[in-house]
Amino acid sequence: MEYSKKIYIFDTTLRDGEQTPGCSMNAQEKLTMARQLDRLGVDIIEAGFPVSNANDFEAVSLISQAVKSRTVAALCRAVRGDIDSALNALKKAQHPLIHIFIATSDLHMRYKLRMEPEEVLNSIFDSISYAKKYAPMVQFSCEDASRSDLDFLCRAAETAIEAGADIINFADTVGYAMPEDLRRIIHALKGRVNGIENVRLGFHCHNDLGMAVANSLACIEAGVDQIDCTVNGIGERAGNASLEEIVMSLNTRPDHFLVHTDINIGQIYRTSSMLSRIIGMSIPPNKPVVGANAFKHESGIHQHGVMANRQTYEIMTPESIGMKRDPLVFGKHSGSHAFYQRVSELGYDLPEQMLQQLFEDFKALAEKKHEVTDFDIEAMIENKTNTRRYYNLDRFVINSGNTIRSTSIIRLKDEFGQIFEDVATGDGPIFASYEAIGRILGISLALEDYSIRSVSEGGDALGEVSVRVKAGKRTVMGRGLSTDILESSIDAYLNAINKLITLGAVPRPRKNENNDT
Ligand code: KIV
Ligand code: ZN
Repeated sequence: MEYSKKIYIFDTTLRDGEQTPGCSMNAQEKLTMARQLDRLGVDIIEAGFPVSNANDFEAVSLISQAVKSRTVAALCRAVRGDIDSALNALKKAQHPLIHIFIATSDLHMRYKLRMEPEEVLNSIFDSISYAKKYAPMVQFSCEDASRSDLDFLCRAAETAIEAGADIINFADTVGYAMPEDLRRIIHALKGRVNGIENVRLGFHCHNDLGMAVANSLACIEAGVDQIDCTVNGIGERAGNASLEEIVMSLNTRPDHFLVHTDINIGQIYRTSSMLSRIIGMSIPPNKPVVGANAFKHESGIHQHGVMANRQTYEIMTPESIGMKRDPLVFGKHSGSHAFYQRVSELGYDLPEQMLQQLFEDFKALAEKKHEVTDFDIEAMIENKTNTRRYYNLDRFVINSGNTIRSTSIIRLKDEFGQIFEDVATGDGPIFASYEAIGRILGISLALEDYSIRSVSEGGDALGEVSVRVKAGKRTVMGRGLSTDILESSIDAYLNAINKLITLGAVPRPRKNENNDT
């Protein structure tokens, strides 16, 4: 076999990806994703921007404690305060990485940073040499590199290397570059920057013109060692380069690229669906690699070809990315042992008590739903594990019809076991229920988005509702899952409220000492 160079995968789903409106994750959700990114085999997990908010700080700390076999990165501006905060958050990491960035284009330096180019160079040197005193690995990124003056970019890179950076990275921050531009930049950097052969060279592409994956692949052809990307390509505006598309391009065409990654491609589908469920953003059916239609053959000619030999119309197989043609099915007769084993095979390591609760939920679901698939089980687990349940739905009764205003009676149980009930009317059963919850809790929230989708197949499929809810300045996603879409709608709203309570945007329940319920 010909020589195959390793490409490092720097995953920024939990930082650049999560920065996207509607893609925010709480610290527990980020931890769930980080564990999956670990199974997927990314080299670096960028877990957050600790100085920017308490949730990111907590997420970086939790992930540093839990994920020992991967490098965990935290983002910082080129200032000491940011680095101190990142070092604190990374304290427990086995392999910490401080990721420092600053813009190098004239436009950004003049209008955003309001700094002279020499001041930018000084900040690069000062911040990297400071970080290097305390962290074993430092990555430096030039923001808006593709629109930077090439001479200045070379000086910035050289300054970073002199200061001790281990990885230097260049961002096509606004997705402006074409593959040829990036080849030219990489060629210039490699030819002109002293010491560049001793550091890892990375690139970070955005998708504003739909070029992020093509550009990342061009960078690999031009000789970079590391690529920044996100699962499902989530990220600012039109997103970042999609991890699964880059990895599967390299995997499908090793003859062309002569490189490999350490990604366990059998985990790709699972990672993609887990993220989609956690952030409540569905995957377009025609999305390469992981879309629902990526391996479907509709036309007669194609079906005929595939039946004769799958390779006629499939350049990769769904099995290779972990998309099972026939997912394993459980039913109401499945026992707890088989269920626990399946949960463990799916990669979850849950405490005994949680497993027992899940098994109860599974039994209840299997009563309603003929067949329970892996996707149902995963959806149940994520629904249960990620958010503290300050309030749970105890029961609801709804009266609705096309000629009457809907009425909903909602009964909630708080974490102390106290019961609260109220009734409200509204335009439709869901609004009536949300009104009743608002009355119980004495709050008024803005429902910014509501969507529903089926997570599994068949008439008895689980309906997953995602809502985006705002309280003051905080916006969160909530998810609910049930075979009854009214129940999943109420659960989704409560899930969002429980998150808002964690963030302090909605008051916590209080134990009433005079109440014995
Ligand atoms: O797009 C960008 O410039 C970034 C940097 C922080 C690398 O995300
Ligand atoms: Zn970015």
